[in-house]
Amino acid sequence: MLLSNRPNRPARWALAAAALAGSCLLSGCFWLDGPQSTFDPNGPVARAQLDLFYVTCWVTLVIFVLVGSALAYAMIRFRARSDDDMHAEPPEQHHGNPLVEVSLIAASVFSLVIIAIPTLKGIWFSYDVPEAERAGAYEVTATGYQWWFKFDYPNETAQTIDPTGKLVSAPLTTGNELVIPAGRPVHVNLRTVDVIHSFWVPKLAGKVDMVPNRANSLWIKADRPGYFWGQCAEFCGESHAVMRFRVIALSPREFNDWLDSQMAPARRVLATAASGAAGPKAHFAAYREFSRNEAGYTDRFAVSPLDAWRQQQMPDSDEDPALIAKGRELFTAKTCASCHTIRGVEGAVGVQGPELTHVGARTTIAGGLLENNRDELHRWIHAPNEVKPGNKMWVNGYVPNNIRLTSADEDALIAFLESLK
Ligand code: CUA
Repeated sequence: MLLSNRPNRPARWALAAAALAGSCLLSGCFWLDGPQSTFDPNGPVARAQLDLFYVTCWVTLVIFVLVGSALAYAMIRFRARSDDDMHAEPPEQHHGNPLVEVSLIAASVFSLVIIAIPTLKGIWFSYDVPEAERAGAYEVTATGYQWWFKFDYPNETAQTIDPTGKLVSAPLTTGNELVIPAGRPVHVNLRTVDVIHSFWVPKLAGKVDMVPNRANSLWIKADRPGYFWGQCAEFCGESHAVMRFRVIALSPREFNDWLDSQMAPARRVLATAASGAAGPKAHFAAYREFSRNEAGYTDRFAVSPLDAWRQQQMPDSDEDPALIAKGRELFTAKTCASCHTIRGVEGAVGVQGPELTHVGARTTIAGGLLENNRDELHRWIHAPNEVKPGNKMWVNGYVPNNIRLTSADEDALIAFLESLK
């Protein structure tokens, strides 16, 4: 039987088609409107950066066509047509043509200038809020941690309860979800407490690094209310790929309502409230096993995340006050409080992990990796290392310190965290 290494003609076409489809898939061009697509800008900074990308693309496309055509012409026109051609001496060599060389240099300089002008304009524009809009800009500070984001609102003052029971002021801080006013420029200070991270919300602005001992910043503006995905864009350790966050842009009125609710200390559900009479009831039939890296989003959330966020602001209808009260006690007893702040819970002033005063009103947990619901909270508390390898709760937290959580403890803690609207 004869075997040939050369694929036949249909096989060659099939190979070429597969290569084209493969490169399209790899480059992501079938998902131009995905949640982290830079081709769907929702604000002026992202738009300016996309425009610049297109200018560069068109200029390089023209160069590609010109050079490719010249190459194709030379290959076809001067190809070897016979055996004699194959073995012929090369023609006599000349030094280049000065006119062609000067023209090529001039054309290269011209195309670089075409790219340079909008590039410089784009750099200046995205560096800081334009002068005309600066007075109305809102300010926040984003800080990178291995592997989550902290957001501070330096111009807002929240409330907490001191040991004597008096309301006193405290900084307003959230974790992993940055809520901003839509239609208003937001100046974001970028900081890190450990290694270099990078702040990136593809639909709002390109990435800027968060560098130790360096005060970087960027600005974003969302055209209208929306829910945007963010991602750490600089390799920062084993869980870099799962260091995510969200930006939620709200109308000015909705934003003010959100600020008001965030100012208050943690919501307190009293154990004596009605449904607690029968004693704590179990939340779960059984703990479901999850595989590592299993996605943690429900369809309801995926279809309309902003609506899901709005629903998340309301307390659940099936709250169990007795269970919540027990969870509140466990939060301190099981040492969660030494790493997490909850304004209004005595002793909960830790700053190693995300601030949790209103964690129940966020749509995601675990650095934006999982949807904030009972199953995912359970998965996160039960086996944090299966979700985010190397995280501090696993490496330094309750797990290595042999603080055991029974399944009833997990139930209570989850009910408490969910109640923090
Ligand atoms: Cu933080 Cu990558």
